[in-house]
Amino acid sequence: MSVHQVTVSAPVNIAVVKYWGKRDTALLLPTNSSLSLTLSQDDLRSTTTVRIDPKFEADRLWLNGKEEDVTSNKRMVNVVRELRALRKSLQDADSALPVIDSWRMHVCSENNFPTAAGLASSASGFAALTFGIAQALDIAERIPRAQLSRLARLGSGSACRSLFGGFVAWNMGSAADGNDSVAEQVADESHWADMEALILVASDARKDTPSTAGMQLTVETSALLQSRIKDVVPKRMEEMRAAIAAKDYDAFAELTMKDSNQFHAVCLDTFPPISYMNDVSRAVVHLITSYNALFTQPGAAGGPKKGYRAAYTFDAGPNAVLYVRREHVAEVLAIVNAVFPVPTTDREAYLGRAAQYVGKEDVAGVASLVKKIGMAPFAAGSLRRIISTSVGDGPRVLGWGAENSLLGENGLPK
Ligand code: DP6
Repeated sequence: MSVHQVTVSAPVNIAVVKYWGKRDTALLLPTNSSLSLTLSQDDLRSTTTVRIDPKFEADRLWLNGKEEDVTSNKRMVNVVRELRALRKSLQDADSALPVIDSWRMHVCSENNFPTAAGLASSASGFAALTFGIAQALDIAERIPRAQLSRLARLGSGSACRSLFGGFVAWNMGSAADGNDSVAEQVADESHWADMEALILVASDARKDTPSTAGMQLTVETSALLQSRIKDVVPKRMEEMRAAIAAKDYDAFAELTMKDSNQFHAVCLDTFPPISYMNDVSRAVVHLITSYNALFTQPGAAGGPKKGYRAAYTFDAGPNAVLYVRREHVAEVLAIVNAVFPVPTTDREAYLGRAAQYVGKEDVAGVASLVKKIGMAPFAAGSLRRIISTSVGDGPRVLGWGAENSLLGENGLPK
């Protein structure tokens, strides 16, 4: 056996119960459990080619066309070391397995969306890296997926959830070595088939405070975070699991929006304060809140209201992700477009796959809703683009050898 080369892709995930805070910054162990939806790789993905080759002299990494210094990237070093150790332990246990753990590797990775725009690029990136190296070392199918999730976590916390498709919980665990801090699939991507996502990209600029630094400052300074960890998230995780199991959109929507609000509240409670949302983000919250208010009725005592049509959530950046059932996507999009006009130039790039919903709305109905909501329209261009996507599957193998490879025959980026 000579060269092992594989190309894989991995998805983005957007949490509805947010991870924010570490109890161990080296092992990336969280202060609370979290839950996310994996988004379709047909729209957003990291693609990674991994080649291990006895002729290579050093590990090398190219990210979005630029060579990175592998040795200075501690998280990357940890993930690679653990994967090689796993390969070695399998080799030690089975003499029929070729000894390849010492071979150097070239890794080339790219995202099909802007990095660090709050679109969870580190999650899909480290998930693709972990899955790709595990495939190249031929260990991915020999160990439980939860083990790969644990290794991806060493790269970036939220990456552990991108090893699964559908609805995914990251259980915080309690072991000091982090062995039980792994993700698990709560329901697969076909479970709630009419769940769609609309991503309103407010800015594709790099964010101000990276999540890693931001969340540690929150751990150090926010009293509110302690109450979130202790009193809010444990119960919310249970309620969110139940809402997903029952496909109860009202409960799902209310929990999602409350959790996004609380995550940004603990950011503001950080000292000095961190603020990821901007005027456009806040206008989206106002728009969705006013829109939902036209349909919601009180629910059972202590339960969610009934009649929600859209749920917003924001990560560590100004972009909104709206989780919407398919029957309401055209209407939600029309309302968003009324407040954030579609630019006349670049219409196709702005709308992308969302264009399929334009013109499918009840025009008179939408006009009356927009009037009731009563928000003055923003200038065209306040949103950069809209990405329409759905819930999707976990990492995929795209090909072996030259098939779909980002590396040329010489082992360097094409
Ligand atoms: C707001 O996973 O990027 O998206 O573990 O330090 O790499 P590190 O942080 P990261 O944080 C993600 C935070 C979040 C919420 C979430 O995805 O749950």
